[in-house]
Amino acid sequence: MFESIETAAPDAILGLTEAFRKDTNPQKINLGVGVFQDEHGKTPLLKSVKEAERRILDVEKTKTYVTPNNGTAEYVACVQRLLFGSDHPTVTSGRAVSAHAPGGTGALRLAGDYLKQNHSESTLWMSDPTWANHRAIFAAAGVPTQSYPYYDAASRGLAFDRMLEGLREVPARDVVLLHACCHNPTGVDPEPGQWEAIAGVLADRGCVPLLDFAYQGFGTGLDDDASGFRILAERLPELMVCSSFSKNFGLYCERVGALTVVSATAEVSQAVLSQIKLCIRRSYSNPPAHGAAVVSTVLDAPELRRSWESELEQMRDRINGMRRRFAESLDARGVKLSPSGNAFVVQQKGMFSFSGLDKEQVHRLRDEFSIYLVGDGRINVAGMTEANMDRLCDAIATVA
Ligand code: LMR
Repeated sequence: MFESIETAAPDAILGLTEAFRKDTNPQKINLGVGVFQDEHGKTPLLKSVKEAERRILDVEKTKTYVTPNNGTAEYVACVQRLLFGSDHPTVTSGRAVSAHAPGGTGALRLAGDYLKQNHSESTLWMSDPTWANHRAIFAAAGVPTQSYPYYDAASRGLAFDRMLEGLREVPARDVVLLHACCHNPTGVDPEPGQWEAIAGVLADRGCVPLLDFAYQGFGTGLDDDASGFRILAERLPELMVCSSFSKNFGLYCERVGALTVVSATAEVSQAVLSQIKLCIRRSYSNPPAHGAAVVSTVLDAPELRRSWESELEQMRDRINGMRRRFAESLDARGVKLSPSGNAFVVQQKGMFSFSGLDKEQVHRLRDEFSIYLVGDGRINVAGMTEANMDRLCDAIATVA
């Protein structure tokens, strides 16, 4: 039966990590997968997380299934508080329901399963470009996908007018996937006024936004990064959001995320939740408990929350510092990644810089210099360090 199976191409992002590991060049640089690295190139285990783990181990008495299978009440409350802020009427009125999912990817797949099972007539619209895995996740769930314009390569900014034009074509009851902050791969986010306009178009069209919220805290701050999401939540009766705590808690391998759905009434929300619980049961049955316990332990203990927020700020500051160093180092070599220079690198938000380097240049960086970035030119800025900056910029100067 298996003899006729063809070997699949490596994943556009995870495949890079595998190739990087096999590379024997001692000067190799990994700017591929979106994982935070410190100034020594290590992905840290946050102190707040470690302390929460100690506390959990001390009191943990069972490894029984998480019940209900959409997650513990503590975790669900924490997810909603980070999204909406404290005591938000959407939450207090019971219009928001959440399900703990295995990571942001798991939450997106759960959203796809829910849509396929319950709204099979809906198409999902995604930005052009978007995270390499989005299309694959929804295709695997059987949800048809389309694209709307998002990025303006000439200005290295948001193609806002074309985006709105595209969204005005989306039929009612279709779903529009938006990145809540730190757009992956471009690092280009709408301004608050633009979020208002996006909300207006979606409301006029009768579309439902689905936000991918994987980088809360990596843009400007926890609340600022939620501002686009909160504008949509004010203006629209229904929305979906996929949270991830991989990056902002550094809990990558614990697979901790959540799907939250807001409906017009608490009653409808309970019906939606019952369907989501069915999807979970048919897929992974129950969520993995540990990562969620860490998140709720940190967020529920004021001193741990303070320490987490400060660690998050340090990660954000390091990335922004590297953005500035990268732009300056390119300037110093006379390399311009765009006709107007490298300032756009500093303005982009989150972990990534959409460099404008093309496929061939990306291949040369990898083949000639053991420098790994995603084929579309996306660079993980968190992979840059003081120690590898010169080598990186010299290599870019050679291929650009
Ligand atoms: C990325 O975009 O690199 C991250 O979201 C990790 C992943 O799973 O692709």
